[in-house]
Amino acid sequence: MATKNAPVKKSTTAKAPKTTSKTPAKKDAAKNLSDLFEDGLKDIYWAEKALAKALPKMHKNATEPKLKTAIADHLEETKEHVRRLEGCFKALKKRAQAKKCDAMEGLLEEGKSIIEETKPGAVRDAGIIAAAQKVEHYEIATYGTLAAYAKVLKEKDCLKYLLSTLDEEKNCNNLLTKIADTNLNSKAIND
Ligand SMILES: [Fe+2]
Ligand SMILES: [Fe+2]
Repeated sequence: MATKNAPVKKSTTAKAPKTTSKTPAKKDAAKNLSDLFEDGLKDIYWAEKALAKALPKMHKNATEPKLKTAIADHLEETKEHVRRLEGCFKALKKRAQAKKCDAMEGLLEEGKSIIEETKPGAVRDAGIIAAAQKVEHYEIATYGTLAAYAKVLKEKDCLKYLLSTLDEEKNCNNLLTKIADTNLNSKAIND
Protein backbone atom coordinates (compact mmCIF):
# COMPACT_ATOMS: atom_id res chain seq x y z
CA MET A 1 0.00 0.00 0.00
CA ALA A 2 1.33 3.44 -0.84
CA THR A 3 2.30 5.57 2.11
CA LYS A 4 0.21 8.72 2.51
CA ASN A 5 2.03 11.85 1.44
CA ALA A 6 4.95 9.88 0.13
CA PRO A 7 7.09 12.05 -2.11
CA VAL A 8 6.48 11.50 -5.78
CA LYS A 9 9.57 10.01 -7.29
CA LYS A 10 10.55 11.75 -10.48
CA SER A 11 11.76 9.45 -13.14
CA THR A 12 15.23 10.31 -14.30
CA THR A 13 15.20 7.76 -17.04
CA ALA A 14 12.31 9.13 -19.15
CA LYS A 15 13.28 9.29 -22.76
CA ALA A 16 12.11 11.90 -25.23
CA PRO A 17 9.35 10.50 -27.44
CA LYS A 18 10.53 9.16 -30.74
CA THR A 19 9.70 11.49 -33.58
CA THR A 20 10.66 11.86 -37.15
CA SER A 21 12.98 14.69 -38.10
CA LYS A 22 11.95 18.35 -37.88
CA THR A 23 9.46 19.58 -40.46
CA PRO A 24 11.11 21.83 -43.03
CA ALA A 25 9.56 25.31 -43.27
CA LYS A 26 7.66 26.30 -46.40
CA LYS A 27 9.02 29.06 -48.60
CA ASP A 28 6.51 31.60 -47.29
CA ALA A 29 6.79 30.50 -43.63
CA ALA A 30 6.45 33.14 -40.90
CA LYS A 31 9.85 34.45 -39.93
CA ASN A 32 8.86 36.50 -36.91
CA LEU A 33 5.95 37.28 -34.60
CA SER A 34 4.61 39.98 -36.96
CA ASP A 35 4.33 37.41 -39.74
CA LEU A 36 2.67 34.94 -37.39
CA PHE A 37 0.27 37.65 -36.22
CA GLU A 38 -0.69 38.53 -39.78
CA ASP A 39 -1.16 34.86 -40.69
CA GLY A 40 -3.41 34.43 -37.65
CA LEU A 41 -5.51 37.42 -38.67
CA LYS A 42 -5.97 36.02 -42.19
CA ASP A 43 -7.01 32.71 -40.72
CA ILE A 44 -9.63 34.07 -38.31
CA TYR A 45 -10.85 36.49 -41.01
CA TRP A 46 -11.73 33.45 -43.15
CA ALA A 47 -13.21 31.70 -40.09
CA GLU A 48 -15.49 34.61 -39.14
CA LYS A 49 -16.77 34.97 -42.69
CA ALA A 50 -17.48 31.23 -42.88
CA LEU A 51 -19.27 31.40 -39.53
CA ALA A 52 -21.43 34.31 -40.71
CA LYS A 53 -22.57 32.07 -43.57
CA ALA A 54 -23.21 29.05 -41.30
CA LEU A 55 -25.11 30.71 -38.44
CA PRO A 56 -28.40 31.24 -40.35
CA LYS A 57 -28.69 27.45 -40.79
CA MET A 58 -28.16 26.92 -37.05
CA HIS A 59 -30.77 29.61 -36.38
CA LYS A 60 -33.30 27.99 -38.68
CA ASN A 61 -32.81 24.59 -37.05
CA ALA A 62 -33.01 25.78 -33.44
CA THR A 63 -36.37 25.60 -31.64
CA GLU A 64 -35.92 27.18 -28.19
CA PRO A 65 -36.66 30.94 -28.54
CA LYS A 66 -33.75 31.94 -26.25
CA LEU A 67 -31.36 29.91 -28.36
CA LYS A 68 -32.73 31.38 -31.58
CA THR A 69 -32.26 34.90 -30.20
CA ALA A 70 -28.72 34.11 -29.00
CA ILE A 71 -27.77 32.83 -32.46
CA ALA A 72 -29.38 35.79 -34.25
CA ASP A 73 -27.58 38.24 -31.94
CA HIS A 74 -24.27 36.48 -32.40
CA LEU A 75 -24.69 36.58 -36.17
CA GLU A 76 -24.80 40.39 -35.95
CA GLU A 77 -21.76 40.34 -33.65
CA THR A 78 -19.94 38.02 -36.04
CA LYS A 79 -20.46 40.50 -38.89
CA GLU A 80 -18.93 43.13 -36.63
CA HIS A 81 -16.00 40.77 -35.90
CA VAL A 82 -15.35 40.64 -39.64
CA ARG A 83 -15.34 44.47 -39.77
CA ARG A 84 -13.01 44.70 -36.76
CA LEU A 85 -10.56 42.36 -38.45
CA GLU A 86 -10.68 44.63 -41.50
CA GLY A 87 -9.84 47.43 -39.06
CA CYS A 88 -6.83 45.41 -37.89
CA PHE A 89 -5.55 44.95 -41.45
CA LYS A 90 -6.04 48.66 -42.06
CA ALA A 91 -4.13 49.55 -38.88
CA LEU A 92 -1.29 47.32 -40.08
CA LYS A 93 -1.49 48.94 -43.54
CA LYS A 94 -2.09 45.53 -45.06
CA ARG A 95 -4.72 44.31 -47.49
CA ALA A 96 -7.52 42.37 -45.76
CA GLN A 97 -6.91 38.83 -46.90
CA ALA A 98 -8.61 35.60 -45.89
CA LYS A 99 -6.73 32.32 -45.64
CA LYS A 100 -8.72 29.12 -45.33
CA CYS A 101 -8.98 28.02 -41.72
CA ASP A 102 -9.03 24.21 -41.64
CA ALA A 103 -10.07 24.16 -37.98
CA MET A 104 -13.18 26.29 -38.52
CA GLU A 105 -14.05 24.37 -41.67
CA GLY A 106 -13.99 21.16 -39.60
CA LEU A 107 -16.01 22.64 -36.74
CA LEU A 108 -18.70 23.90 -39.11
CA GLU A 109 -18.78 20.57 -40.90
CA GLU A 110 -19.36 18.91 -37.54
CA GLY A 111 -22.13 21.41 -36.80
CA LYS A 112 -23.81 20.50 -40.08
CA SER A 113 -23.73 16.79 -39.32
CA ILE A 114 -25.02 17.22 -35.78
CA ILE A 115 -28.10 18.94 -37.22
CA GLU A 116 -28.69 16.07 -39.63
CA GLU A 117 -28.17 13.50 -36.90
CA THR A 118 -30.65 14.91 -34.36
CA LYS A 119 -34.41 15.06 -34.15
CA PRO A 120 -35.70 18.69 -34.29
CA GLY A 121 -36.56 20.08 -30.84
CA ALA A 122 -34.65 19.95 -27.56
CA VAL A 123 -32.21 17.26 -28.70
CA ARG A 124 -31.24 19.13 -31.86
CA ASP A 125 -31.00 22.33 -29.81
CA ALA A 126 -28.59 20.59 -27.40
CA GLY A 127 -26.54 19.46 -30.41
CA ILE A 128 -26.52 22.97 -31.88
CA ILE A 129 -25.30 24.38 -28.55
CA ALA A 130 -22.52 21.79 -28.39
CA ALA A 131 -21.39 22.65 -31.92
CA ALA A 132 -21.67 26.40 -31.33
CA GLN A 133 -19.66 26.22 -28.10
CA LYS A 134 -16.85 24.36 -29.86
CA VAL A 135 -16.75 27.24 -32.35
CA GLU A 136 -16.77 29.85 -29.56
CA HIS A 137 -13.97 28.09 -27.70
CA TYR A 138 -11.92 28.05 -30.88
CA GLU A 139 -12.52 31.76 -31.34
CA ILE A 140 -11.70 32.50 -27.69
CA ALA A 141 -8.38 30.65 -28.01
CA THR A 142 -7.60 32.42 -31.28
CA TYR A 143 -8.46 35.95 -30.13
CA GLY A 144 -6.66 35.39 -26.81
CA THR A 145 -3.50 34.44 -28.69
CA LEU A 146 -3.78 37.25 -31.24
CA ALA A 147 -4.39 39.83 -28.49
CA ALA A 148 -1.26 38.59 -26.70
CA TYR A 149 0.72 39.01 -29.93
CA ALA A 150 -0.73 42.49 -30.54
CA LYS A 151 0.32 43.48 -27.02
CA VAL A 152 3.92 42.33 -27.50
CA LEU A 153 4.05 43.91 -30.96
CA LYS A 154 2.61 47.17 -29.53
CA GLU A 155 -0.19 47.20 -32.11
CA LYS A 156 -2.59 49.21 -29.94
CA ASP A 157 -5.45 49.59 -32.44
CA CYS A 158 -5.40 45.89 -33.23
CA LEU A 159 -5.30 45.05 -29.53
CA LYS A 160 -8.40 47.16 -28.92
CA TYR A 161 -10.32 45.46 -31.73
CA LEU A 162 -9.21 41.97 -30.72
CA LEU A 163 -10.09 42.43 -27.05
CA SER A 164 -13.57 43.75 -27.90
CA THR A 165 -14.24 40.67 -30.00
CA LEU A 166 -12.74 38.35 -27.39
CA ASP A 167 -15.20 39.73 -24.84
CA GLU A 168 -18.16 39.07 -27.13
CA GLU A 169 -17.01 35.52 -27.85
CA LYS A 170 -16.75 34.84 -24.10
CA ASN A 171 -20.18 36.35 -23.45
CA CYS A 172 -21.73 34.26 -26.20
CA ASN A 173 -20.16 31.10 -24.81
CA ASN A 174 -21.42 31.89 -21.30
CA LEU A 175 -24.90 32.59 -22.61
CA LEU A 176 -24.96 29.25 -24.44
CA THR A 177 -23.92 27.47 -21.23
CA LYS A 178 -26.74 29.21 -19.37
CA ILE A 179 -29.35 28.31 -21.99
CA ALA A 180 -28.20 24.67 -21.96
CA ASP A 181 -28.16 24.47 -18.16
CA THR A 182 -31.41 26.22 -17.43
CA ASN A 183 -33.60 25.05 -20.27
CA LEU A 184 -32.36 22.59 -22.69
CA ASN A 185 -30.35 19.68 -21.45
CA SER A 186 -33.03 18.55 -19.01
CA LYS A 187 -35.72 18.84 -21.72
CA ALA A 188 -33.53 16.85 -24.11
CA ILE A 189 -33.49 13.87 -21.71
CA ASN A 190 -37.16 13.17 -22.36
CA ASP A 191 -37.66 14.68 -25.77
FE1 LIG B 1 -16.41 35.88 -33.85
FE1 LIG C 1 -18.26 33.73 -32.02
